[in-house]
Parts: sequence; structure tokens; C-alpha cells
Amino acid sequence: MKAEVASMTAASPDHKVLARAGMILKKGGLVAFPTETVYGLGGNALDPEASRRIYAAKGRPSDNPLIVHIADMKDLEAIAASVPEKAYEMAKRFWPGPLTMIFSKTDMVPLETTGGLETVAVRFPSDPIAQELIRCAGGYVAAPSANTSGRPSPTTAQHVIDDLGDTIDMIIDSGPVGIGLESTIIDFSGDTPVILRPGYISPQMAGEIVPDIRIDPGLLKETGNIRPKAPGMKYRHYAPKAELTVVEGSLQDVTLLIREKVKESIKQGMAPGVIASEETFKCYTEGDVRCIGSRSDEESIARHLYQVLRAFDDDGVQVIWSEAFDTPSLGQAIMNRLLKAAGHRVIYAGGNKNDSSGM
Ligand code: TXA
Ligand code: MG
Repeated sequence: MKAEVASMTAASPDHKVLARAGMILKKGGLVAFPTETVYGLGGNALDPEASRRIYAAKGRPSDNPLIVHIADMKDLEAIAASVPEKAYEMAKRFWPGPLTMIFSKTDMVPLETTGGLETVAVRFPSDPIAQELIRCAGGYVAAPSANTSGRPSPTTAQHVIDDLGDTIDMIIDSGPVGIGLESTIIDFSGDTPVILRPGYISPQMAGEIVPDIRIDPGLLKETGNIRPKAPGMKYRHYAPKAELTVVEGSLQDVTLLIREKVKESIKQGMAPGVIASEETFKCYTEGDVRCIGSRSDEESIARHLYQVLRAFDDDGVQVIWSEAFDTPSLGQAIMNRLLKAAGHRVIYAGGNKNDSSGM
């Protein structure tokens, strides 16, 4: 099956196409759609069969729960059994937007959608096309990122076509997304709220409303034997085909070491790639050098990360060296995704820390 690709802009949504896309979802079909974070692969969240289809299309293990997307605050309580006051305050401040909150679920949500968990993750996206589609579909759309499991999340419709163009019913194309990293996930189902996945809403921003918020300790590291609270975090994610290594240290040391590594890999007959920033781009004269964005504009780095990783795949690059991007607000989210893509392979330039190759 070839997916129908429908193009429209957020400024002038095609209401007829969205009504038809909503019908496809109501009947159990799959529609990929834009959100402000990444493109999502939508199915009816209340239909166990649709959830099974999502897992099959992505090649995703069925114990990795899906996020339920809503487009109206009044729909929350039908699927969330208890919503603490603090969560309402978070919703007031950050919804619609790049925030997902986890609550204990009601019987309305099938276990197929929640990967067998008694909790449900809920997000109210701000993208107007996403909102209209959700309303047309009956209010509850389960949507993981619309990539094949293990590949970088899609930030353009072309990425979705590349991964799922032959397996789903429809793809709504409204151009590149605004943020480029998946939503911040906060678990409100326990005694104190916990950030399970960093995103555009930083711990500082969340902490203004929920001062006692904690960050899941296993977040930036491999979790070993501990079962992660967000089951998706245990899988190797966002991975490019080439072996990726992150180089930390002062920018000067980092660029010097990456230049050396690129030289070595060319000598070994490999095709190397470099993830550089606007500030360092000109320092690299060999290899497939890609500029991810400016260090003084961290949003540009977030927006381009997945696109750059996918571009290396298309170029047939075999080994990638990336600078680290510990930027002030989005640094945690960017580094979380970058380190996962690298399988936590990190080396330190300048010799101030012991060289360690994470895995
Ligand atoms: O920005 C986003 O959140 C995008 C767009 C499409 O909305 N969606 C997205 O979905 O990133 P996905 O499936 O790729 O990632 C969802 C993450 C997974 O790591 C999953 O394990 C976790 O959320 N999750 C979902 N429901 C959960 C639950 N009940 N408890 C703990 N973790 C949950
Ligand atoms: Mg995903």
C-alpha cells in the first residue's frame, strides 16, 4: 500500500482532507501528521487493533507504550483516572504544547495502547493541523514518532515517506516541524512528579510550577538492569547507521581531536562524517561535514539534529564524530538524544578526563 501524501499549511488547513483523515483513523487506519515536536504516526487510541497496527508499522516492541494525543482539555478526565492539581497547573501553562503527562488510566484506554501499563501518557499538541485531525478522529489519537523503530524521529514528511511510505494510509505534509525533539515527559502517577524524558520544556521551566519535580536518575545513562519508567528509554533509539561518537571538551580541543580522527578514518579507507556548529564549521576541511546550527541559537541545533543524522545515512557515511552541545536550556534534551544515537560512546578531548568509550 502506498500512503496518500496530502500537503497543507497550518495557516490554511485543508478541512476536507482532514475530515477524510479523521474517518480513516475512526475506521482503524493509520495517518502520519505534523506536530510541533516531530511527526507522529496516528491511530485511534481507543481501538486496540489500531494500536497493534502502529506497533507493526513501526516494528516497535508492543511493551513500549504510546502517547495519547487530545485536542480539548475536557477530554482529559475520560482517560486519566486521577489528575493532581499540579498537573492542571502544568497544563494551564504548557498545553497545548510539547509536554506529555502520565496519569493512572481509566478503562476507556485499552492496554494495547499503554503497552500493558495501568498508566496513560497524554499530550495536547499545539500544531493546529494536529488538533483538527484529533477532533475529526473523535478526540483520542495514539501517536508515537512516525519513524521506523530505531531510526531518528522524523522532522519532515519526507522522513516519514522514507520510513513508512509503503505501510500506512496517509501522510499529512505541512513542512518541517518547529522544535525537532520529542516532548518532555513528566510522570504524575506517583507521589512526586518525575521527568522521564527531557524536551523543550526544561526542568527549570517545569520547576517554576512544580518545585519538587525530580529528574529520573537513569535518564542520561544506560539504565542497565533497572527497568526504566518510560519503557521506550531502554531501547537504542534515534540511531544513525554509522557508528557515532560524541567528543567532549573545550571547543578548541574538540575540533582538533575530531580533525585527527577524521584523518585517521580516511586513512583506514572509511567515509567519515562530522557534526559541527556554525562556529566551528570552517575548522573541518575533510570528511562529510554538516552544520547542525549555531551555538548561540540552541533551538536551531535541536531542530536540525535528526535531519543531520538522517542525511549521513543517505550519504553512506560509516563513522561520525560529533561535537557536544551542552547549551543552557535545551542542552539536556539535545545531549540525551545525541548520546542515545551514539550508544553512549563518548571521548574527551584535551586529556583532562580519562578516555572512555561508553560501550
Ligand atoms: O513529541 C512527542 O512526544 C512525539 C509526538 C508525535 O507527539 N511522540 C513521541 O512518541 O515521541 P514515542 O512513542 O516515540 O515516545 C513516547 C515515549 C516512549 O519512550 C514511551 O515509553 C513513553 O513515552 N511512554 C508512553 N506512555 C508511557 C507510560 N504510560 N509510562 C511511561 N512511559 C510512557
Ligand atoms: Mg519515538
